[in-house]
Amino acid sequence: MSRKIHIFDTTLRDGEQVPGAKLNKKQKLEIAQQLEKLNVDVIEGGFPCSSPGDLQAVRAISQQVRGPVIAALARAVKEDIDIAWESVREAERPRIHVFLGSSDIHIQKKLRSDRESALEMAVSAVKYARNLCGEVEFSTEDGSRTDFEFLCRIIEATIQAGASVINVPDTVGYAVPEEFGHLIHRLRETVPSMDRILLSVHCHNDLGLAVANSIAAVRNGADQVECTINGIGERAGNASLEEIVMVLKTRFESYHATTDINTTEIYRTSRMVSRIMNIPVQPNKAIVGSNAFSHSSGIHQDGILKDRTTYEIMRPEDLGVKQDTIVLTARSGRAALRHRLTELGFSLDAEVFERVYSRFIDVADRKKEITTQDLQSIVEIEVSKVPETYKMHSIQIMSGNKMAPLASVCLERDGQLLTDAATGDGPVDAAFNCIERITGVSGKLCDYDLKAVTMGRDALGEAMVRVQIGDTIYSGIGASPDVIEASARAYLNAYNRYFANGGAETTDK
Ligand code: KIV
Ligand code: ZN
Repeated sequence: MSRKIHIFDTTLRDGEQVPGAKLNKKQKLEIAQQLEKLNVDVIEGGFPCSSPGDLQAVRAISQQVRGPVIAALARAVKEDIDIAWESVREAERPRIHVFLGSSDIHIQKKLRSDRESALEMAVSAVKYARNLCGEVEFSTEDGSRTDFEFLCRIIEATIQAGASVINVPDTVGYAVPEEFGHLIHRLRETVPSMDRILLSVHCHNDLGLAVANSIAAVRNGADQVECTINGIGERAGNASLEEIVMVLKTRFESYHATTDINTTEIYRTSRMVSRIMNIPVQPNKAIVGSNAFSHSSGIHQDGILKDRTTYEIMRPEDLGVKQDTIVLTARSGRAALRHRLTELGFSLDAEVFERVYSRFIDVADRKKEITTQDLQSIVEIEVSKVPETYKMHSIQIMSGNKMAPLASVCLERDGQLLTDAATGDGPVDAAFNCIERITGVSGKLCDYDLKAVTMGRDALGEAMVRVQIGDTIYSGIGASPDVIEASARAYLNAYNRYFANGGAETTDK
């Protein structure tokens, strides 16, 4: 006998709280459509009262994504709840997710209130939401640090008020597995109406225990786990979806719990989220890191060659990690490219296909063979591109250990070519300076990451940057066999996000 565990994905809400990871409507919709393919049970689309843009994004997800429940977050106040309802009312299966701090620390220090008033506030918010929407989830924020008796009272009262899902968050990542599991067990035994609802958990990773705590909760009776792709989220992040799903699948005999996740979409979802949000995945990240299935020691390689099960507990293909079947070159042509893209599960409209093709030819001209990973990188960057106010036309660099690096960059804007040259502390800095001079906008580089997409000396370099322009951080991504060009493309991509966001072309230095 096995229990079904509901997977509630909050990448688009808690995940989006990562500084610099703010998404626009198109990007949110793209990720939501991929989460639909992954077959999550719930997509938390956003916190619609935070901005009109977020309301529009959650509304678009509600209109276009079918299958999963679409949830919107709201504080326990009418205005938030009204806006949340506005955003999900057209969903096939809408849910309003109301939260209120329940620990004394939150009630006294944040809400400047007392337990009784907080309880009343939670009950009236849930009743109000339930009058609008058939499905209401209530979260006892900072649940793991809440007095147990009060936690039971607020949960029972909000169930009576109409909540059909109760979420107990470890908001600050303070819990440890035995204790958190025990809390869930006691809640199940103590709260009278617990059997009428789904019991959910939402763990943060401040002590690196978010997945362990979530799994302990599952063992002790949690029905739903809230998590994010790649474990991204506020501060140290949330419990990682792919880790939870694969623990339950790989160790079925220990937990007797299953999820409905289509695991072969995990790898693709992880890459998409990483690219669109510009948050690199660490190489040793469990399940989706680039080293997760690579064996380097001789003894391990020998074992793997004899029998994969000697050192592998999961099969890469179960996660959708694709091995190369054919390698494309500059002579492969449109038909072969289209065929390979279809094999990889990409269905591109004609305009995006043409952009991918022209980038593919550009890269293939300089690199002998285009591998699956190269192609995935090219496609994912083109698919997630914002409108390009400035396009990269060409770049030249002169650099050496006895000279000041010099870059010359030519950008295209409205059919016009704009060229400038600049020096810098290094060739990357010089290229960034050129972009600033041409666009007339100064930015501050907050983050820079460069990695090779594949092994080998001709590997495609993929750069990710975060650039602060004014008060806002914009992220950018770029790829090229030339790492300076990849960096310049990433910087330009961040600038194009700034312009797409209505940025003015004035120097703010
Ligand atoms: O961490 C938390 O407590 C939350 C709630 C809003 C569910 O994100
Ligand atoms: Zn959270």
